[in-house]
Amino acid sequence: MAVREILKMGDPRLLRMAQPVTQFDSDTLHLLISDMLDTMLAAEGAGLAAPQIGVDLQLVIFGSNARNPRYPDAPRVPQTVLINSVITPLSDSENNATFAEVEDWEGCLSVPGLRGVVPRFARIRYTGFDQFGDPIDRTVDGFHARVVQHECDHLVGKLYPMRVRDFTRFGFTDVLFAGNQASSDD
Ligand code: NI
Repeated sequence: MAVREILKMGDPRLLRMAQPVTQFDSDTLHLLISDMLDTMLAAEGAGLAAPQIGVDLQLVIFGSNARNPRYPDAPRVPQTVLINSVITPLSDSENNATFAEVEDWEGCLSVPGLRGVVPRFARIRYTGFDQFGDPIDRTVDGFHARVVQHECDHLVGKLYPMRVRDFTRFGFTDVLFAGNQASSDD
């Protein structure tokens, strides 16, 4: 159990395509996840991807079984360990081939002090495995869908500023939200 150092944007290890996990339910994997949970909790993050602590694996954690003090109004996302994830965007109805996007503010523990508005798919299905190798298959929307897309982007070397389209809505948290108390980083 240990809080690990979180890599910051500019570190080339954040730009790699992460490798699939091949061994489940191993001591090494459980230790890694325990460190990731400690690190995410210490930073009050909404999620954390293994590449953010320099580990080149397709492994993300997100959500919390308690309320996050930094996101008191955010819908609850169950604490999840997601390995070898696949995300599929979904349309609102079977007759609709377009995938709706929604915009909202994001931050990232690897991009401290900044926030930006990022478009994400409104509704997704994600599949993968937990740390024991048991399958996960969920259809989600809203904040849950956003968190999963943000974290899984870390597995393909993408940080949220690379998704920002309107740079008039990107800046320093303490300036953007001056007067609001919420202001560290996700
Ligand atoms: Ni991030």
